[in-house]
Order: sequence, then C-alpha cells, then structure tokens
Amino acid sequence: MDITGEIDLSSMRSMINAFPDLIKMVELNHDVMKQMKEFSREQFRGICILGMGGSGIAGNLCKEMYSDEAYAPIICVSDYILPKYVTKQWIVIGVSYSGNTEETISAFEQAVNRGCPTISITTGGRLEVLSEGRPICYLPIGFQPRAALPLLISVQIQILETILGLIPTDMKVFSKKINSIANTWKNTSISPKIIANEIVGRIPLFIGWQHLSPVAYRAKCQINENAKTVSFFSVIPENNHNEIEGTGMYGTFQIVPIFLRSKYETTQISKRFDATERVILDEGVRSINLRIETDTKLEELVAFTLYVDMISIELADIRKVDSVSVERIASLKRILSE
Ligand code: PA5
Repeated sequence: MDITGEIDLSSMRSMINAFPDLIKMVELNHDVMKQMKEFSREQFRGICILGMGGSGIAGNLCKEMYSDEAYAPIICVSDYILPKYVTKQWIVIGVSYSGNTEETISAFEQAVNRGCPTISITTGGRLEVLSEGRPICYLPIGFQPRAALPLLISVQIQILETILGLIPTDMKVFSKKINSIANTWKNTSISPKIIANEIVGRIPLFIGWQHLSPVAYRAKCQINENAKTVSFFSVIPENNHNEIEGTGMYGTFQIVPIFLRSKYETTQISKRFDATERVILDEGVRSINLRIETDTKLEELVAFTLYVDMISIELADIRKVDSVSVERIASLKRILSE
C-alpha cells in the first residue's frame, strides 16, 4: 500500500493529516519477522531502542506503553554511548530516519561490535551500511523525521508486540480508529486550533503521566520544531517534588500549564493532577485540561500524539512560521562538521 503520493511532503499539515493512514503503511518484512522469531524469552535480557529527536520519540512512547507488560527492561538511548550492560543478550533497535545521525550511528556501531542482535529502522544512510546482513525495516523517503512518527511508531508497535508475545494490534483497524477519533475533534471546543489560539504568545508547559509523559515531551518538541517557539514538558508525580515550587512565577513568564489527562490514571495520580491544578490556580494561573475519549491505552497514547501534533501545526500557522524547515538544526550540524 502506498499513499505517500497523495501527501504533500512540502507541507507539515499534509503530513500530519496523513498520520492515521501512515499507521497502516509499513508491514514488517520477512528478514525482520525471521529475526524476531529467533528471539525468545530465554534468549534476551532487554530491549534497547536507539534514536534522536523525531526518530527517538517513538521508542519513548513504546517504552512507556509496553514496559508494564515486558518481562525484560526496555530502555531508550539518545546518546553516543551504549550502556555497558547492553550485552549480546540484548536486542538493539536502531532508529534513524535519515540513517546518518551521529549519536545513533555511534551507539549502533557499539551494539554491532558487542554482537547484539539488531533491527534497523531507516530510509538508508550509514545505518543501512552498518546493518549489512542484518534485518532492516525500510521507511518511505521524503518525510521530515518528526512527520514520520506514525510510520516509526507502527513499526515499533509491531516489533515489540511480537518480541514480547503480546496480542498483535491490527494496524488497519487501529488506523481507522485513530482516524475516527480525530474526526470527533473538528469544530468542537477542544479542536487543536482553539487550543493553539489559547497558547499563542505564551509558553505552553505540557504535563503528563506514564504513557502520556512522552506525549507531553512530543508536544514540547513539536511546538519547538514546527511552531518555532518555546515550550516545556513535565511529568506527574515527579513535578510535585520540585517544579511545583516554581509555579509562583508562571504568571510572570506567561506559562500555560496543559495537563494531558488519562482515562487510565490511578486514583492517587488523579488526585495529584487535581491538587497540582489547584496550587497553580492559587497562584492566579489557569490551566488547560485535555482528555481524549478512547477505548484502549494504546489508542489514547497515539490519538493524543496526533492531537498535540495538530496543535503545533495550528500554532505554526497562527505564528506564520515555516513548520517544515529546521534551519537551526541544520546550521548546528554544519558547525559540528566544521
Ligand atoms: O525532527 C527532526 O528533524 C530531528 O529531530 C531529527 O529527527 C533528528 O535530528 C535525528 O535525525 P534522524 O531522525 O534522521 O535520525
């Protein structure tokens, strides 16, 4: 199935609108399936997912989603160095959309040298070269890495569910479900455009818990990269032990706290969200509470990710900035290569 021809790859909005369709686009190939079948509970001690920026976030989302059900640790590494405890008993998943991100390449090289079984997810580049004779899951070319998230996440869902022996998600059904959830936001009081209008000119602080904490991080990154403005993220309950002391300055710095609320919160976590909101309100600052109606935790995680992506694109339009180009990332890479 190829729907990339219908997507305008020069438009972030077009790429984000295609999010639900992209979820069902990549199926695991024979090599990847074969490699995964060779993994069994006894054969590996953990799963390590490598990736930076837009390529790193899917690993973080999956880690939070599946850690509860995994019988071995799932870790994400966004650095040059592979931890020493990642031995040849670990499965390493190297993720780089371009295949040329130096931190990912460095950590992946160490995994190969240590004899770790690997799966690479990429469009090519150095990662493809280093993966010769090893399974590679190829992604369609032409996307901005951050817009390839639905591809990256769907591939990693399929890989992790297989390795962990979980019931596989039917990506076609899942894609339809995400599409129908997204349709419910249009022209409502929680449409992404309305939220974008509420935060323009202020500093959004996204606050999440568990599987929605990497979504809060994704929201911050998308606002940075697409809307070219400042944003932060924070995690409950850790927030309650330090950041909460800074809330007295939220008004001065025009910070808008945005709580990503989950249907799966425990009673204690719900109490913490409500109490945090009250402390902030006592400082004279109103928060935004966001909830998305879904049937499963995975739907909540993925639909929320699409929702925050949509907020970032609306904000980019209101701010009249080019959401595709990442000039500062490019110039930083140039400086580093000098
Ligand atoms: O969104 C982006 O363009 C960046 O965050 C990239 O994802 C990051 O620089 C890593 O590059 P790649 O995804 O090609 O490994």
